[in-house]
Amino acid sequence: MDKLIVGGGSRLEGVVTAGGSKNAALALMAGAVLADGVVTLRNVPRIGDIKTMVELLNGLGAVTRWADDHTVTIDASEIHNLEAPYELVRKMRASFCVLGPLLARFGFARVPVPGGCDIGARPVNFHVEGLRKLGADLHVEHGIYSAECEKLIGAPIYLDFPSAGATQHLMTAAVLARGVTVIENCATEPEVAALAAFLISLGARVEGAGTTTLTVEGVERLGGGECEVIPDRLEAGTMAIGAAITNGDVVIERARPDQMRATITKLREAGVDVAVDGTSIRVSSKGRPKAIEIKTNPHPGFPTDMQQLFAALLCTADGTSVITENIYESRFRYVNELNRMGGDIRVGGRSAVITGVPMLTSAPVTATDLRAGAALICAALAADGETELSGLEHIDRGYEDIVGKFTGLGARIRREPEPD
Ligand code: EPU
Repeated sequence: MDKLIVGGGSRLEGVVTAGGSKNAALALMAGAVLADGVVTLRNVPRIGDIKTMVELLNGLGAVTRWADDHTVTIDASEIHNLEAPYELVRKMRASFCVLGPLLARFGFARVPVPGGCDIGARPVNFHVEGLRKLGADLHVEHGIYSAECEKLIGAPIYLDFPSAGATQHLMTAAVLARGVTVIENCATEPEVAALAAFLISLGARVEGAGTTTLTVEGVERLGGGECEVIPDRLEAGTMAIGAAITNGDVVIERARPDQMRATITKLREAGVDVAVDGTSIRVSSKGRPKAIEIKTNPHPGFPTDMQQLFAALLCTADGTSVITENIYESRFRYVNELNRMGGDIRVGGRSAVITGVPMLTSAPVTATDLRAGAALICAALAADGETELSGLEHIDRGYEDIVGKFTGLGARIRREPEPD
């Protein structure tokens, strides 16, 4: 596997474009299983997780092809295999979300218990209980969920926690159910609203997207259609941290600042200048950031996926910051790596106390998951010397050409094969 060599000390400057959202695109692709017609998705990021989803859909019998660099067409009309293979589902949790659409459309599906980034226990009980409420006969045996039904029937569903994945999954199952499904305490993430808009464009009846109650009135069939994937708020946030941590001046174009309010607010609180102009965000910074407090929460709260990136930034802050992680039980595994670079982070329970240091130092480090990898790149950009970063397979899952994007802004990063 390759490693990255990241030279510290360059100030990031220039213009970068946000790509399409990984998490939105994955949900749309799982939703495309419902369509009896060709679906065209534009602005799809060319990343590892999307490649896995393409393989999964093709394995089910859909015909998926790249029409150009960022456009995927999916024809799910000929799906004939209703079993998702373990090798693909273990790689990526989002692949579990084909279970509901397969079940809703064909009355049967078998999907293994999912894997994904190692950021703590990630059960699928809300997904499973919700599908059962819709009438699925669902059981797990030898690590595989088997589900069947004659026809899903709309039902009231209350989520104990506003899970993004469960909201998306149950919405896709409910669109072909008979009758009305109301999902309460559902997630309001932009990726959930994007999925609802996509399903509506295919003929679904969904109301309340972006609020905590979704109402889905089942229809007989969904047809084909087209959709542009929303910009990746987490990639844009990563570029913003890169700019802030290097005292740079970067304009991020084709972003959705309205979907990044908590991130922008916390950057400003830390003393970073953020100017919003339509779909561009200019991030510039001088001197050390201020120490701040962050608590992750479901949208519109501060996103857990930006937590690790802010930790990197706050390692260089003037003062002591506290980050409290309320979404995942153990999303602090990256802390050892930042500390190896001279960071001073202590974790107790769900909180990390970060005492800022004037300068991080280079060290060999390993990405423990996707966002941890991005955080380590940002830390390395601000460190004294050259950092060697391993574990790139995590970063490749979710960032398209992160090296090209950062080097385009003046960073010194190269990718090298790592000897076995
Ligand atoms: N949860 C349960 N039971 C469930 C489902 C979720 O207990 O059945 C818990 C989870 O364990 C977690 C919390 O609920 O503690 C929230 O999980 P959620 O279901 O919202 O997360 P997800 O849908 O699995 C998506 C993103 C994640 C992002 C979270 C939170 C995708 C493919 N993944 O995961 O993205 O962290 O929402 O916003 O959409 C990333 O991009 O790096 C990433 C991990």
